[in-house]
Amino acid sequence: MREILNMDFDWRFHDGDIEVTNFYSVHEVFDNPSFMKSANCGIAKVGYNKHKWDEIKLPHDFRHYKSNFTKEAVASQGYLPPGIAWYRKEFFIPAEHEGKSISIEFDGIFRDSEVYVNGAYVGNHLSGYTSFSYDITDFILCGENNAIAVRVDATKYEGWWYEGAGIYRDVRLIIADRLKVKYNGVFVKSKIKDNVANLEIEIEIENEAPNNDYVKVTAEIIDPAGNKINEYTSTFKLKEYEGFTAKLKGDINEVCLWNLEEPNQYKAVVSLYLAEKKVDEYIQKFGLRTIEYTVEKGLVLNGQPTKLQGVCVHDDFAGVGTAMSRAVIRHKIYLLKKWGANAYRCSHNPPSPYLLEACDDYGILVMDEVRLMSSSKEFMGQMKDLIKRDRNHPSVFIWSIGNEEMAIQGRKVGVQIINHMLRVAHKMDPTRACTYANNAHWHDITIFHEQNGLHMDVFGFNYYCLRTFDMYKRLHEKYPDRMIVGTENGSALSTRGQYLPRIEECHEDAFDKNLMKIMIWSNPERLYNVSAYGELYTLWGATPLETFRTAQENYVSGYFLWTGFDYRGEVAPMNWPSTITRFGLLDLCGFPKDLAHHCRVKWSKEPAIHLYPHWSFDLDVGEIEVDMVANTEEVELIVNGKSYGRVENPKWDIVKNFVQYEPGRIIAIGYNGGEEVTRVEHTTVTKPSKINLEVVEKREFIADGEDNIFIKVEILDENGVHCPNEQRLISFEVSGEGEFLGCGNGDPLDLAHEMNPYRNLFNGLALLIVRTKRNVGNIKVVAKSFGVESGELEINVTIPTEDKLVEKCRSKAMLQKVATPEPEKDAADNAL
Ligand code: GAL
Repeated sequence: MREILNMDFDWRFHDGDIEVTNFYSVHEVFDNPSFMKSANCGIAKVGYNKHKWDEIKLPHDFRHYKSNFTKEAVASQGYLPPGIAWYRKEFFIPAEHEGKSISIEFDGIFRDSEVYVNGAYVGNHLSGYTSFSYDITDFILCGENNAIAVRVDATKYEGWWYEGAGIYRDVRLIIADRLKVKYNGVFVKSKIKDNVANLEIEIEIENEAPNNDYVKVTAEIIDPAGNKINEYTSTFKLKEYEGFTAKLKGDINEVCLWNLEEPNQYKAVVSLYLAEKKVDEYIQKFGLRTIEYTVEKGLVLNGQPTKLQGVCVHDDFAGVGTAMSRAVIRHKIYLLKKWGANAYRCSHNPPSPYLLEACDDYGILVMDEVRLMSSSKEFMGQMKDLIKRDRNHPSVFIWSIGNEEMAIQGRKVGVQIINHMLRVAHKMDPTRACTYANNAHWHDITIFHEQNGLHMDVFGFNYYCLRTFDMYKRLHEKYPDRMIVGTENGSALSTRGQYLPRIEECHEDAFDKNLMKIMIWSNPERLYNVSAYGELYTLWGATPLETFRTAQENYVSGYFLWTGFDYRGEVAPMNWPSTITRFGLLDLCGFPKDLAHHCRVKWSKEPAIHLYPHWSFDLDVGEIEVDMVANTEEVELIVNGKSYGRVENPKWDIVKNFVQYEPGRIIAIGYNGGEEVTRVEHTTVTKPSKINLEVVEKREFIADGEDNIFIKVEILDENGVHCPNEQRLISFEVSGEGEFLGCGNGDPLDLAHEMNPYRNLFNGLALLIVRTKRNVGNIKVVAKSFGVESGELEINVTIPTEDKLVEKCRSKAMLQKVATPEPEKDAADNAL
């Protein structure tokens, strides 16, 4: 039976390349003999003990781990230099697994990785974003220690944002029978009508053995409540060492649909039996839902028109870089759901599998995207890997086969490439449409496509090309049969909590003169100050409110704002020492900016209002802009008892007032039908008094050594009011069944190492991330600073882990033979 073993623990990391790998190798006299003879890479031999290695745990982003920011590094990559590194790990495989199929799965390595097992070259994977698996059966010795080494060459980039480096996603070892379901080998297709789903389950089976008997293939269907509701079975004749694809069919009555409010999911438990003995079990989750891409109603999910309120997101986070654990990824999705988004674009690369799992679980629709648009073997391969891995996720509603490929999109060669990719995508997944994120002169480019025989399923357009907001309409008039999606919109910039200019930032040198040319400052008075007000956007961009206004028509299925979170890199129009972009609705820590509130308010079905800035400034600050964004009919601002009048609330705009600052209280009230329906207020703080620690996402925590707890760090005044201007340095101590993982504050200028257990608050906030250990119990967190009372928090870790570590094999088999690091020389070691 299949065993899935967690391989994330106990790795060793070496910064930099190791050119001389001849350790216990056949040709000791030559440098770098990895490919000279089979099994000749010494680093991947048991007992290799040269060089300095750090003990690390996966996921691991070595650029973040080193965090040696330098002005000389590339701005788009967050001023963190690229590099080459090695990882290695030794692990014991018990003798009982002799004869089994053993494979290793990597969810993602950035990038250009070479994997060696016991000295033998196993494979090379170029993409930094696609997942892959290697069959290492032949290289493994059961009953002995084994070694794996991974060389990562992250000297080249794939994108224009911070991409991290290293084994930044999870790794697992699969020990299974030689007759088994293939990696990503199950596809559950469904057709749903009148509450009945017809399922067709395709199961790719690998038979790396002389089996030529009959194999019974079953699929048990488990409903969202965990009950077995069906079982489909069929028997197939095997051929020795030959795989095949089994197809099972059956119905599900009274379907429990997956939707955004109730993301119900089923499981297909696929089993293989040889002579009534179960030899493999493979669990495939899936969801049942219908998607229609219409012009009349936009995107229709289970018969319901659903406007896409989406965000584009890159894959990094404060405290961890791109080494985002499952918990970090789920946390990001938790936050987006909380702020009201219902769709996510994996811009511009295949995501972690955990991302899709999280979107399935939280009810978020996903535009799943390739890294690059090309039909070459490499990139067509990447697209196929993506579709094969992700096609069972109910959250994935569309494939995006490219983004802004300016060199080819308006040319004949582009038409040829796109048509080829569409053909392949449709064949692999007949259940979903494809789109392409066309940009710049997309109106003319689309006409060119249509005239040259390229008919995209769904028109995908980035932005409005120099703010020509009528372009959707014009294109719709020309092609009234095609649904449009705003694949990328927004690109408005803001800095969380920064209402007044920062001296270090508000001068020309902090900005890139060339990039300034592509920026629009809707308030020229704030030129050279990317403030929290969010009135700066790219030449092609718009504010979120403008985006909402232009996506009202039904033929526009929605939009994806650039971006959900700030991310490292692409710091335009700033330059050094800014290392984090400011495009996010939420900052790098997931703390909301005012633009996130614009979205929350407009996406909310309940009456809502947002008021900014806070009301704690220096006495001499003078006149301040006070903004209100609401979804009510009227709004009113009251400052220290003085009303600025009840005014009509413009549907897609902000209500601005200019107010002479005086300490006290400001209140914003929203009215419907003349009645107050919502209000929000801010009070001037008194003396900073105490550190407050608050778990952001309250839930149960798992003792798996991988779960994370996200803790908001702030200072409160004597009355318990949040102090928004605090920049104090806070130090953290974590003890008990947890450990410090990282921290951050979202400040684009702060170059402090995020793995040091202390951090300045940035405009009142910092984020601390704690990692659980592998024991149920309590974690104690203490935060200290000068001049204020310390903050303390106790957190329970309540759920015992269920996963099995590769290390468990080691302890189970401790008494068995453990290989000694003797040189592996034998008669085959012939001289030259
Ligand atoms: C788009 C691009 C994004 C990002 C954005 C910034 O053109 O697709 O990746 O660069 O601009 O505004």
